[in-house]
Formats: sequence, C-alpha cells, structure tokens
Amino acid sequence: MELTIITGESARDTTEVLPLCLEVFEDFSPSYLSERLQRVTDPVLVCARLRSGRLAGFKLGYRRRPQLLYSWLGGVHPEARRQGLARKLMARQHDRASANGYRFIETQTQATNNAMLVLNLQSGFMICGYETNAQGVPVVIQRKALSVVENGN
Ligand SMILES: CC(C)(COP(=O)(O)OP(=O)(O)OC[C@H]1O[C@@H](n2cnc3c(N)ncnc32)[C@H](O)[C@@H]1OP(=O)(O)O)[C@@H](O)C(=O)NCCC(=O)NCCS
Repeated sequence: MELTIITGESARDTTEVLPLCLEVFEDFSPSYLSERLQRVTDPVLVCARLRSGRLAGFKLGYRRRPQLLYSWLGGVHPEARRQGLARKLMARQHDRASANGYRFIETQTQATNNAMLVLNLQSGFMICGYETNAQGVPVVIQRKALSVVENGN
C-alpha cells in the first residue's frame, strides 16, 4: 500500500475521491464534497493506493485557522478495513501538519461512529465538544495538539 499526499488545486479534484465516498458513506451527496472543496483553504488529501493504483482509503483536511487543520472526511474501502489503513492515513496527515506549522487538528464525528471516535482517541485527540449539527445529528468534536517540528515541506 502506497501513501501519497496531494495539495493545492489537485486536492480539489474529486475524480478519485468521490467514487470512494459513495462506497464508504451512506447517502453521500456529491455536492457536499465538491462544493466545500472549492471554497476551503489549503486542502490536503492523503491517499492510500493498492499496487494497482486504485484508491483504497483517503483522509481530507483543510486550513480552518492559521494553525488549525480541520480533518474533514476520511474513509477506507470496506474490503480494506481493519488492516491499520485509517491509522496510517491519520499518522501521515498529522506528521505533515506538524511539519507545516500547524499546532492543532480538529475533527467532528457522528456520536454513533465508534470506530472513528476510538481511533481518534487512540491517536491523541481529546473530546472538546458535543453538539447537534444542522441536520439534527449528534456529533462529537475532538481536538489534538501537535508537536512543533522545525522544517516543513
Ligand atoms: C472508520 C474507518 C475509517 C476505519 O478504517 P480502518 O482502516 O478499518 O481502521 P484501522 O484498521 O486503521 O483501525 C484502527 C483502530 O480503529 C478502531 N476501529 C476500526 N474499525 C472499528 C470498528 N468497526 N469497531 C470498533 N473499532 C474500530 C480500532 O481501535 C482499530 O484498531 P485495532 O484494529 O488495532 O483494534 C472505516 O471504518 C470507514 O471508512 N468507515 C466509514 C467512513 C467513516 O466513518 N469515516 C469517518 C468519518 S469522516
């Protein structure tokens, strides 16, 4: 499995990520992905690919404040789950954020999504809020302080 990081305008391209979102999330709306991706600042896409080149997992975040990365969406193809892929994608996202001067990562997860909440806690996030979103879904807000790294890329 190869991990790559895509930034800049290429990170706004939904050609590969949208089909995976449609497999990974129930009732996924393509415009939810494309519309937000067009207006966010500094999107960063971490991709996990099979040897064939096919996308098996991704993690997508963007700059919400000068030193705060918002980790927005992520998923792993059902056939590639429970092999540590989401953990690796997250570690790569956090390492890259540290190296690029971010001090915090924030994320929101549906309160019923045990897998993601547990992985976030195992990866250093702390719960910092709980709310009901605009769609009436309870969500847990989690935040992680990053260690400072001198040289970015
Ligand atoms: C959540 C998700 C990304 C996890 O991907 P994954 O590659 O299977 O996760 P990993 O193999 O890296 O698992 C890491 C840890 O997360 C936890 N975890 C993962 N799946 C779990 C599950 N179904 N139930 C409970 N805990 C789970 C475990 O602690 C696991 O560690 P372990 O395998 O050593 O016990 C994947 O299930 C998914 O794509 N779900 C649908 C999309 C989604 O909910 N995305 C997050 C919100 S944007």
